[in-house]
Amino acid sequence: MANTIIMDHPLIRHKIDYIRRKDVGAKDFRTIVGEIASLMCYEATRDLPLRDVEIETPICKMTAKELSGKKLAIVPILRAGLGMVDGMLNMIPAAKVGHIGLYRDPQTLEPVEYYCKLPPDCEERQVFVVDPMLATGGSSCAALKMLKDKGVKNIRFMCILAAPVGVKKMTEEHPDVDLYIGALDEKLNDHAYIVPGLGDAGDRIFGTK
Ligand code: PRP
Ligand code: URA
Repeated sequence: MANTIIMDHPLIRHKIDYIRRKDVGAKDFRTIVGEIASLMCYEATRDLPLRDVEIETPICKMTAKELSGKKLAIVPILRAGLGMVDGMLNMIPAAKVGHIGLYRDPQTLEPVEYYCKLPPDCEERQVFVVDPMLATGGSSCAALKMLKDKGVKNIRFMCILAAPVGVKKMTEEHPDVDLYIGALDEKLNDHAYIVPGLGDAGDRIFGTK
């Protein structure tokens, strides 16, 4: 059974609650989503394995540490997931980036797939799927299925806000995937928007409406 980790860092909470405000414009929203992604990346990578390596400082030889284990990949769910990519890359610049295109049909609320391009060796990598919002869980569950159908096994999912129903769906359908959640909100409204939430993440990142 995988873990569900809800961030408890005050900087993350402060930044999330700042961007919930409806008068925060696209430029600030985008910048702060990137900062939240960097901080969450720090938390979601804290158990990556290290190996010993012999190096020489200007003073002496020493046994240093460097990251070992699987190479990393970041896979944003388009569009809103794009807002988290640069923040992640700031922390793990050697990661490759794949893209999954999905949108939630406004009538049926079902995810509709329109794009998938992954690094060629993605199935050997530790993959971080990123999307700011986990609402019904339809989009993220579909994205994880697309990845698994292509042979990807090591997946962690990161979102800024989640609703309890989406967390339940993800843990039931993908019990092997660790969830890293910035803040767990109360519920969904009648349009399946997260309450209190922050509105439509894609529109707020890209200034569309
Ligand atoms: C948003 C969000 C998630 C999805 C979450 O994307 O970025 O991908 O909704 O909702 P769910 O958990 O109920 O599936 P949206 O469909 O608005 O597309 P966009 O990112 O292109 O704006
Ligand atoms: N997608 C969003 O962008 N916001 C929500 O609250 C739910 C789904």
